[in-house]
Amino acid sequence: MDPVKVGLLGLGTVGGGTVNVLQRNAEEITRRAGRGIVVTHAAARDLNKPRICSTEGITVTTTPQDVVEDPEVAIVVELIGGDTLALDLVMRAIENGKHVVTANKALIAKHGNEIFAAAQAKGVIVAFEAAVAGGIPIIKAIREGLAGNRIEWLAGIINGTGNFILTEMRDKGRDFNDVLKEAQELGYAEADPEFDVEGIDAAHKLTILASIAFGIPLQFEKAFTEGITKITREDVTYAEELGYRIKHLGVTRRTDKGIELRVHPTLIPERRLIANVDGVMNAVLVKGDAVGPTLYYGPGAGDEPTASAVVADIVDVVRVLTSDPENRVPHLAFQPDSLSDLPILKMEEVETAYYLRMQAKDEPGVLADVTRILGDKGISIEAIIQKEPEGDSTEANVIMLTHTVVEKQMNDAIQKIESLDTISGEVVRIRMESLEAS
Ligand code: HSE
Repeated sequence: MDPVKVGLLGLGTVGGGTVNVLQRNAEEITRRAGRGIVVTHAAARDLNKPRICSTEGITVTTTPQDVVEDPEVAIVVELIGGDTLALDLVMRAIENGKHVVTANKALIAKHGNEIFAAAQAKGVIVAFEAAVAGGIPIIKAIREGLAGNRIEWLAGIINGTGNFILTEMRDKGRDFNDVLKEAQELGYAEADPEFDVEGIDAAHKLTILASIAFGIPLQFEKAFTEGITKITREDVTYAEELGYRIKHLGVTRRTDKGIELRVHPTLIPERRLIANVDGVMNAVLVKGDAVGPTLYYGPGAGDEPTASAVVADIVDVVRVLTSDPENRVPHLAFQPDSLSDLPILKMEEVETAYYLRMQAKDEPGVLADVTRILGDKGISIEAIIQKEPEGDSTEANVIMLTHTVVEKQMNDAIQKIESLDTISGEVVRIRMESLEAS
């Protein structure tokens, strides 16, 4: 049988990695797929840019439309990112009856509903394993491996750049911008690194995970995001003194009222395996009712880890090229006409525990005022530490851990605490998750 011809949109870090993996492992990949797979066409912005792969035998163009229109190409692999040109090209490829593999989380999180509807109508596959958690086969694990479970919640470190920054800052005391620059040089960061550090990239990925875990449409616009730029060394140290690590976590949970969908810095007990996931590594903890807690770990970014997921998707597509479209694994794990309309909860309705830090005047009665405000809002305190003023300062750092409370109550309490004369500046608030199996 003739090899299946693949057209790549983008020949950068992931595109180059994909060519290298397909070439290096060609024999084993053919044995798995049942047919050879060759990259015959590729689109790149700059033909003269140095590449990490050989382009021998590949027709390279600067016009990506040529790739999606070429009748020879059976599978289009979209690796250009963004959701404007990429959306046009993917929709056009679908219209042309081509299968699509993409690593583009923004595209799927924001436009997946329309893309999958078009793909279903046309009987083609849109595969997106590489869009979430780089090389970890998390989409396959949830969509297929956990198909017997009612998923209760999942929590993940799903941005490699952010985790790399937090780890280097904590372990080596390095400066935020200096580590970010290194992450960019290593090809981990997004074209706009704000997407990494402000949690937007993680929210794209979490949106996708929530959909396949709970069988709901993709609703990126309802995700809550808070970035890591305000995390200070001080908070990292205090958290460690209390037995916690700060991680930038994506959390989605099914509750009686709806679905939580949130990305924010989070204190997690240091004894949890996921608290020890460092550097560019990602991890996703998934709690199913039958299996209990399961943890998936691996590199979240980089050329060949991401290519590993891209190539696995290409192999999957090749394996089912001749199968009846009705009998394929549904794009969002659940049959398209069986998606649930459970609402996404507003952040104000979400219930978590909190780490609070405030600068308080070292005077009698200050703590009593703060604890009264918290008590009035039904917030109970689990632990308090007070750090004595340093040098000439008359202000002490007060750190509190609270039990769980609805976010709205905490917002009101923080507002009241900040208005006390004895408290200066803003109260630092970091949410906490115990990530217990039960
Ligand atoms: N910028 C992303 C990250 C790339 O750092 O995780 C992989 O999606």
